[in-house]
Amino acid sequence: MSANKNLISKRKKEHIDLCLTDEVCFKNKSNGFDNYDFIHCATTEVDLNEIDFRTEFLKKTISFPFLISCMTGGTEKAENINLRLAKVAAELNIPIGVGSQRRSLDDDEFDRSYKIIRENATKVPILGNIGAAQIVQLKDYSSVQRLVDLLEADAMVIHLNPLQELLQEEGEPYFKGLLSSIYKLKQKLKVPIIIKEVGSGISLDSAKNLLDIGVYGIDVAGAGGTSWAGVEILRNNKKKNNQFWDWGLPTSYCIKNIKSLKGNYNFTLIGSGGINNAFDNAKAFALGADLTASARIILQTLNNAGSVGVTKLITDWFDTLKKIMFLTDSNNLKELRDNKIIKKEVLY
Ligand SMILES: Cc1cc2nc3c(=O)[nH]c(=O)nc-3n(C[C@H](O)[C@H](O)[C@H](O)COP(=O)(O)O)c2cc1C
Repeated sequence: MSANKNLISKRKKEHIDLCLTDEVCFKNKSNGFDNYDFIHCATTEVDLNEIDFRTEFLKKTISFPFLISCMTGGTEKAENINLRLAKVAAELNIPIGVGSQRRSLDDDEFDRSYKIIRENATKVPILGNIGAAQIVQLKDYSSVQRLVDLLEADAMVIHLNPLQELLQEEGEPYFKGLLSSIYKLKQKLKVPIIIKEVGSGISLDSAKNLLDIGVYGIDVAGAGGTSWAGVEILRNNKKKNNQFWDWGLPTSYCIKNIKSLKGNYNFTLIGSGGINNAFDNAKAFALGADLTASARIILQTLNNAGSVGVTKLITDWFDTLKKIMFLTDSNNLKELRDNKIIKKEVLY
């Protein structure tokens, strides 16, 4: 194995290990959901038994609009994690993303760590994943189609991580030509493209730029959950008071702003970034998300309570969501998105 390939696999393992701790949270910035409250409706007539979460996503019907976010692959430890997460995705009939497939651009040594997902979740939407830093360097996009084929993926996610690349010692913070590269890739790929951040959020202007080139979906992956600056600072034993640790746009802000583009563009809006409890999950929908997604809490729950624990976590969140919909007189998620939440400051 070349030094570079060794480094990628080693980095993947370090990311998993660090993310199993809470040390990598944002320190002084939240995802912003705490600033909102639901509008209680004393005259609700919603029938809890009639709430149906089934949703169309990537031409498939999923049972809950929740995505197990892109996390891992390309290292030995990843295979077992992906196997167990795939089983959860299959059982709940929900979509799942894989971690960066960069390792499979070089050779097939760890292809199994990705393939195992499709083998164990045959019917659900599966999202491939590759970094923007790789896309801008490619001359020939057939290698990305190979990554799609490996998983029989329903979409390809490109992650934008300028802050992480900047702080990673071996990082590649070179994104010149990014939008035109994504556009060219879109012409070549047989599946749609979804763009995500990794915890610094996506602004309204960036979202417009991406929608103008025709991406299928935007996953905001906003600030307030896992700090990837934090992960890289810890990996390199750098000073923990680095001010970039808390860089980024809070998740709630990103969802609310990008939702405003719905009138002009047809796209799927995924709300993620620090969604670690049932109320934050519900607030992401109320602010405008079509789907929600989480990463680190899923990994931690898998580690502490196994696949059963992850299944329970997700079903509990959606049981609570039903109760919130009952209390806000929302028969469906479309109604929940329609003025059922307000800024707390308005209440006092
Ligand atoms: C262990 C781990 C590995 C990750 N690796 C990737 C990756 O390879 N590609 C990617 O797009 N995002 C990756 N992410 C980022 C997540 O998908 C997510 O956007 C980010 O962690 C914020 O969500 P969270 O606050 O729920 O963790 C990773 C997250 C975790 C916890």
